[in-house]
Amino acid sequence: MIDLLTDSGTGAMSSQQWAAVMLGDESYAGSPSYRKFEQVVKEIFGYRHVIPTHQGRAAERILFRCSVSDGDIVPNNAHFATTLANIEAQGGKAINFMTPEAMETSKNVPFKGNMNIEKLEEKLSTCRARIPLVMITITNNMVGGEPVSMENIKAVSKLCRAHGIPLFFDACRFAENAWFIKIKEEGYANRTPKEIAREIFSYGDGCTMSAKKDGLANIGGFLAMNDGELASKCRKELLITEGFTTYGGLAGRDLEAIAVGLNEVVEEEYLKYQVGFVKFLADLLVQNQVPIVTPPGGHAVYIDAGAMLPHIPREKFPAWALGCALYVEGGIRGAEVGGVMLGKPGKPTATPSEGKNVENEDDAVENDDVFESEEEEHEELFRLAIPRRTYTESHMRLVAVSTEKPALKTFWFITCHRKYCQSEYRKAVVYSTVLSATVPSCATRMSRPLIGWPLYFLCHVRVMQGRGALVAYHENFHLSLVFSWNTKSQRLVYTEKTQVILDIFHDIYIPLESVA
Ligand SMILES: Cc1ncc(COP(=O)(O)O)c(C=O)c1O
Repeated sequence: MIDLLTDSGTGAMSSQQWAAVMLGDESYAGSPSYRKFEQVVKEIFGYRHVIPTHQGRAAERILFRCSVSDGDIVPNNAHFATTLANIEAQGGKAINFMTPEAMETSKNVPFKGNMNIEKLEEKLSTCRARIPLVMITITNNMVGGEPVSMENIKAVSKLCRAHGIPLFFDACRFAENAWFIKIKEEGYANRTPKEIAREIFSYGDGCTMSAKKDGLANIGGFLAMNDGELASKCRKELLITEGFTTYGGLAGRDLEAIAVGLNEVVEEEYLKYQVGFVKFLADLLVQNQVPIVTPPGGHAVYIDAGAMLPHIPREKFPAWALGCALYVEGGIRGAEVGGVMLGKPGKPTATPSEGKNVENEDDAVENDDVFESEEEEHEELFRLAIPRRTYTESHMRLVAVSTEKPALKTFWFITCHRKYCQSEYRKAVVYSTVLSATVPSCATRMSRPLIGWPLYFLCHVRVMQGRGALVAYHENFHLSLVFSWNTKSQRLVYTEKTQVILDIFHDIYIPLESVA
């Protein structure tokens, strides 16, 4: 199995980090391991107060608990799921201000992660009193791990300062963002990633950090800020849920590993390799004509599942379907970043009266709130995250080969259909093997009726030259059925025996013709 579910805490720690683990001092209060950790964080991030937490979301919870009240609004270029949830848990509203090109997956612009300045400005001038802080997520995970430019960061900072609103970074992948600034933005080519990082943070007032990403550690995080009053409130909150102020939710050895990791992550050679490695996979996928978010970001390749599987309507979660397919096909695990993750199915492509399965329209409308406008409707992406310093190019080649399989190129379906889920065929797994790449109209004919197949009915259509077989596995039977394509009548030809199983699956196959 190749596990690309996440890059969070799944990377390999270096020998230096493991050596540092051995030096961990587990004193309850005032551990020297904390001092090392604090020093490195201050050196790179530059904030006065450093509060360790067990991971990023704990830092978020504490920050929002101490700064967000019922009805408040927190703008961001795009909130990560835990950021959004932690704001909502305090009764706040998390708003994404992405740029229009962020949603154009194939558009090749250098800083797709940027904040939409016009929208932010408008919100700050109309709702100032309800905005306790603004956030920028670097890199922007929700739109493909895309970087934010220094120019954009400066512009957001200027606006926030003009309105007297603190600016916080979600800094999980700050080093990768700094690297992109170095290689893409004018004036930064000769600066080190560490210098660039320091400049980024100088425009803000604090940050939340998951050290499981650019801390190169398996666990850990922190909250850092300049405001002493807010820091003291946060430390009280930390005591209740995480632990004493010099360890947060971490062991002394974790603090040691993060301190070393933060220094390693800003090394040029490392960043060049990491970002290059992601690009390596992206290039292989592009060669296979798999639509991806371009240009690739720093920690993952995002497949545009909506474009790859256009026959699966958004309310049937194409990215989720692709994830199941890749797992079965190649043992590759990734993460859906679409309607399921956001709890926000895409706009239905048909009304219920047209016979499509739209079950929760009310929810869909309610959840629209997180997106400020229609054009910011989310994409159906499937993320292949690259654990740092873990896999080799051969692994990436295997990933690419799996997406190349004819089955994936043509159709893959898993759909949820309550009616069928509850039926006696619940446990059936159907691999159907039909059709020919040489008969493209067939694809349309077959895919339409296949949409709406029951959950657990895994349909795998292999492309063959004009022939195929449908193999059905059920608790009590296993049938193989042979089809061929009649080019004259433009229909599938099948035998009587085939009819038996087709009857079981009701109205699935429409354009068929019997030869028996
Ligand atoms: C952008 C971003 N912010 C915050 C988090 C939360 O961090 P953690 O998983 O350490 O709680 C993540 C985790 O994936 C993330 O990608």
